[in-house]
Amino acid sequence: EKGGFPHFMLKEIFEQPAALQNTVSPRVKDGHIDLAIPLTESQLAGFKQIHIVACGTAMHAGIVGKYLIEKLARTPVNVDVASEFRYRDPILDKDDLVVIISQSGETADTLAAMRLAKQRGAHTLAVVNVVGSSIAREADSVLYTWAGPEIAVASTKAYTVQLSIMYLLAFKLAACKGTIDAAQEADYVAQLCAIPQLLEKVLETSSRYEELAKQYMHAEDMFFIGRGLDYALSQEGSLKLKEISYIHSEAYAAGELKHGTISLITDDMPVIALGTQQRLLEKMVSNIKEVKARGANVLFICYEGYEGADEFADNVIYLPLSSDIFAPLASIIPLQLFAYYISSLKGCDVDKPRNLAKSVTVE
Ligand code: F6R
Repeated sequence: EKGGFPHFMLKEIFEQPAALQNTVSPRVKDGHIDLAIPLTESQLAGFKQIHIVACGTAMHAGIVGKYLIEKLARTPVNVDVASEFRYRDPILDKDDLVVIISQSGETADTLAAMRLAKQRGAHTLAVVNVVGSSIAREADSVLYTWAGPEIAVASTKAYTVQLSIMYLLAFKLAACKGTIDAAQEADYVAQLCAIPQLLEKVLETSSRYEELAKQYMHAEDMFFIGRGLDYALSQEGSLKLKEISYIHSEAYAAGELKHGTISLITDDMPVIALGTQQRLLEKMVSNIKEVKARGANVLFICYEGYEGADEFADNVIYLPLSSDIFAPLASIIPLQLFAYYISSLKGCDVDKPRNLAKSVTVE
């Protein structure tokens, strides 16, 4: 049942290109996006504010969604964890879109947050993997992620397909609002459709992560740093490591380090630094040099062709070239494999980490 893989998690990491393809291709026709939801183009263009509400990894997909939607469609997006949103008396009205993201479709806090949004008259759009689940049944609109069953408790392929829906939604909202034109929509769609091949290339290098894991598996703490979309990915990379390897880690916006956390960077502290955002690369590199100067052991993730990375990083992972906005789909794989091999080499129960449940149906 594990298809020759030692764990479901590794199998599911390798299923990501196919899951992405299955989620994206039914919604793309001749360079245009058809979401097949009961909302007209003018309704999609008319939302004044968007809230994305979810828990854990699904919430991390929402953070990427915020960057994409705000950048392309210029609509303000608020991302919140469901357990905070539901008790905060959020400002919601009829012109708002509330996007609910959930792999299982049964997470108690997420379901309650969606019910609250419905009560307040907002349109609820659920991004769900399990067909017929509670969230899918109650939402006004549903976009299924076609990842297939996810068995490992740590979410991998469900996250990637949630991201792919965030891309489709951002492109669609932008096209409806006219902040991108039809040619740009077609171009973005073509780039998204080419991602599965790019992911196959990243997966071909998977054996390297076992070596890297050996170097870092004895650490007690780690930091993940990045800017922009890389910061969003740092948060997911840090969660993956914590939940399955039991190594404490923190994700930090790289520019925020010097406001406190840099005091924790001492000799040999592993810092996983993401540098896929070209616009922010120079600033990122100076943050890396700052931690390096304090003794950090830096694992740097950047595009191939970036020269000079090994002058300031102890290890470098080169990703096949992608454009800044699509980078999260590629850079998540190194973070997943890094966490996976550390957990597996430490002898942890990779697929069933202690104290965690696949579906959290109590708050
Ligand atoms: C982390 C993980 C959890 C879930 C969270 C939400 O790997 O799996 O953080 O993402 O419990 O679950 P769903 O998406 O089922 O609502």
